[in-house]
Amino acid sequence: MSHHHGSSTAEPHTISWARLYDPLVWVLSLGRGGRVAALTVDTAEVGAGNRVLDVGTGTGAVALRAAERAGPTGEVIGIDAAPEMVAKATSKARGRTPAPRFEVAPIEDLPFETDSFDRVTAQLMIHHLPEDLRRTGLAEIRRVLKPGGTLAVTEFVSLEDSARAHLLSFSRGRKQHRASWLTALLESADFDAVEQIPTEFSRLGFVRAINP
Ligand SMILES: C[S@@+](CC[C@H](N)C(=O)[O-])C[C@H]1O[C@@H](n2cnc3c(N)ncnc32)[C@H](O)[C@@H]1O
Repeated sequence: MSHHHGSSTAEPHTISWARLYDPLVWVLSLGRGGRVAALTVDTAEVGAGNRVLDVGTGTGAVALRAAERAGPTGEVIGIDAAPEMVAKATSKARGRTPAPRFEVAPIEDLPFETDSFDRVTAQLMIHHLPEDLRRTGLAEIRRVLKPGGTLAVTEFVSLEDSARAHLLSFSRGRKQHRASWLTALLESADFDAVEQIPTEFSRLGFVRAINP
């Protein structure tokens, strides 16, 4: 009589990108992913009682931070087009108070009322979008943001930006490359007061903009 402990239960062979995403980010960012998310929330100036939308939330890193800042009187919603990301984010939020809520939705068609959010965050998601979706996505963000509301976008600074920054920079002490592709994109989407926030990350641009 032999026992087949465990040998008959086949492991599913599907590799879940959502499950691997956090460890991958951790490795690529040398463990500084939490700091990046905190800086994105800082850039958006999330405060107590704010209603916050995190677009392209992935596994929810920014939304989870924002929920701590918005507190029990605030509300944080994270959306992502990928159901497996939303499932992973939802399981990370379980048991947290206050907890963000997550929904499957595309940036180009946000299922929210006009003028209904104080803050919107978009971390490392805009570069995923083709150019026409960048435009419609940013227009959707402007629609759901209240007048005077703040958008924070965190993105990789492109090589082109870096090269131009080196050529044009007269100040040798300035280490951070300018996220000019991003500031130009937000200005062309008619956001006001577009500014890059200086941080210790030279290859990431943290940009804040106001919905006029
Ligand atoms: C690199 S991940 C960043 C996730 C998260 N913001 C972070 O910083 O950890 C980009 C995310 O954007 C999502 N995404 C891509 N296109 C989208 C779209 N059209 N609408 C909503 N989310 C989208 C992807 O599913 C993915 O989760």
